Amino acid sequence: MSFEDFFCPESVAVIGATREEGKVGRTIFDNIIGSGYKGKVFPVNPKASDVGGHKCYSSILDINQDIKLAVIVIPAQYISKILEECYEKGIKYVIIISAGFKETGVKGAKREKRLIEKARDYGIRILGPNCLGMIDASCPINASFSANMPSKGKISFISQSGALLTSVLDWAKDSKIGFSKVVSLGNKADISENDLFDAWKDDPETDVITAYIEGVAGGKDFIRISSKVSRKKPIIIIKSGNTDAGARAVSSHTGTLAGSNKAYEAAFKQAGIIRAGTIKQLFDYAKAFSYQPLPKGKKVAIITNAGGPGIMATDACEINGIQLASFHTETIEKLRSFLPEAANLYNPVDVLGDALSDRYKKAVEVITEDSNVDAVVVLLTPQAMTEDLETARAIVEVMEKSERQIPFTTSFMGGSEVKKGINYLTKKKIPNFDIPEAAVETLKVMMDYNDWKAEKSYPISEFNVDEEKVKLIFDRCRSEGRLELGELEARGILEAYKIPVPKAEVACDVEEAKKIAARMGYPLVLKIVSPNILHKTDVGGIKVGIEDEKELVESYEDILISVKRYMPGANISGILVQEMVLDKKETIIGISEDPQFGPMIMFGLGGIYVEVLKDVSFRIAPISEKIAREMIEEIKTIKLLKGTRGEAPSDIESIVEVLLRMSQLVTDFPEIMEMDINPLFVKKHGEGSIAGDARIRIGG
Ligand SMILES: Nc1ncnc2c1ncn2[C@@H]1O[C@H](COP(=O)(O)OP(=O)(O)O)[C@@H](O)[C@H]1O
Ligand SMILES: [Mg+2]
Repeated sequence: MSFEDFFCPESVAVIGATREEGKVGRTIFDNIIGSGYKGKVFPVNPKASDVGGHKCYSSILDINQDIKLAVIVIPAQYISKILEECYEKGIKYVIIISAGFKETGVKGAKREKRLIEKARDYGIRILGPNCLGMIDASCPINASFSANMPSKGKISFISQSGALLTSVLDWAKDSKIGFSKVVSLGNKADISENDLFDAWKDDPETDVITAYIEGVAGGKDFIRISSKVSRKKPIIIIKSGNTDAGARAVSSHTGTLAGSNKAYEAAFKQAGIIRAGTIKQLFDYAKAFSYQPLPKGKKVAIITNAGGPGIMATDACEINGIQLASFHTETIEKLRSFLPEAANLYNPVDVLGDALSDRYKKAVEVITEDSNVDAVVVLLTPQAMTEDLETARAIVEVMEKSERQIPFTTSFMGGSEVKKGINYLTKKKIPNFDIPEAAVETLKVMMDYNDWKAEKSYPISEFNVDEEKVKLIFDRCRSEGRLELGELEARGILEAYKIPVPKAEVACDVEEAKKIAARMGYPLVLKIVSPNILHKTDVGGIKVGIEDEKELVESYEDILISVKRYMPGANISGILVQEMVLDKKETIIGISEDPQFGPMIMFGLGGIYVEVLKDVSFRIAPISEKIAREMIEEIKTIKLLKGTRGEAPSDIESIVEVLLRMSQLVTDFPEIMEMDINPLFVKKHGEGSIAGDARIRIGG
């Protein structure tokens, strides 16, 4: 779908335009006229004959011209009727500004639902309801009730909060940020960020997509669409509501560590979305992306007239994993030829506090031409002789003259003393940041995005598995009214998906346990088997490291006594005699269901401290091999798996495989609500991984 008739329609009707100035219906009408809109605008209102000198129609059906877009500003209860007329008129896009829908409660929500169903039947797309409208600065048209028409730029912006949009537009005016398209989503009953991302993918007027959202519409679609769009142009999002307030009914380790913020983090990563922490950061990033080319490499040159900011920028590079470019000898010689003796010729280059614009200019020029430099950061502090405007001009001149396509950023630090310079830089599309760290961070984001853009998308592998077996196990559990599966049943599931488990057999009494042990060989582990016991350790239901028959007999009795004490009512099906897995690291792989994005996969170092350390990573299923590797690399304790202090490296390849098989399992069986493999024993490189314990909760 093009959305062409939405953003820059040939004709617009404002239904509910009024004579009374200051009313929303009137303001929108005036804003459209005042924005320099070149199409035709028709006010519609049965109670008026003219609005602001324009002939007013009592119904859109009275207008004998084609109407492409209708903006509705009448009370909620009359809109359904108007929608019918829109349909009759052949209108495809409607903006509903009016409130009185979902935001007002149950009744309003029902009204909204009915309206949207009707619109779907009619093939009409709706923005809103309860929104501020839309602005297209390149059209131009201001079909919103925000008085601020932004200047023309290449950034498009979506806001789920109308009030925030007004602030952003006001602030953008002051800081001279231009926009292409600006959309207020309101209740987001139909048109969502997904539609707009898709539409803006091929919009020549949009180079950078930005959004403030509170939640996404259709998590899977969001990932699918965004990951396609983001390979073409950056999507920068600020997502509010990041704290997981409220208790969630979870019983697994994974469930405890998961939560909606983790899901968003994962989804954004998988979709190549750049997440901004604050509105300020959102536009810092957006400006840089829209003004400057992407850095092709990761080496930055810093030029400063003061030591302190130079060090701060250097620290920021270090923190963000960015290298300081090391200059060619010729560059250093050239710098030496004109910089004072006290100057620092090496990166960060210090041109000293008395530097005038010409010294800055020469230095920036020389550095820009060094092929080791992928991005330039010019820092300036206002000192006695500093020429902020002249220096800004000098930097712009160098940038415009240079044939190297590298990004220029600046941090002119201060207020009124550097204002003229900053304004000039902004005018010439060099993003200025109020602190050096922000410039460096933004470059890092651009570098990462450059990597993402270059990356191919990876296929999702399919293993040969026994789906039928899993189905049978789940069916049996459900028919017995059990939705929680303990280790024994979970083993069956793992085996069906060819995830290795330790050798094990169930013994019904100690004699049988002895026989099994004799076959299996020591050392061994004993574990209680009971449909009522999910955490075996908590009830003394497990003994590890059993070395001989004597210990076996004692342990067997101990387990029974302990379980009877902790859980006298528990149904005991027997005791599992299990091979003891030696020389291994304990990791955890889990699944939890996110309401927005569906099943999420977790990986981390396992064992009893998993909830304390929280050293885990998440992704939304299904995952590719590339993502599985990313998940493993992402944990802070990855060095423990790679081998440290002479320890042999663990079999990371086998973890990748288990992650992929789990991803396939949960994709095939969406009824899995929660699952933990804890621990997943990871052996030495080449020796594989073994699921030491697993539990699953399925939906009814
Ligand atoms: N087969 C095994 N080999 C070695 N250690 C084991 C084995 N099974 C369990 N363990 C150890 O015992 C701990 C608890 O066992 P687990 O089966 O996970 O019980 P729980 O129900 O308490 O989670 C594991 O984290 C692991 O350290
Ligand atoms: Mg366990």
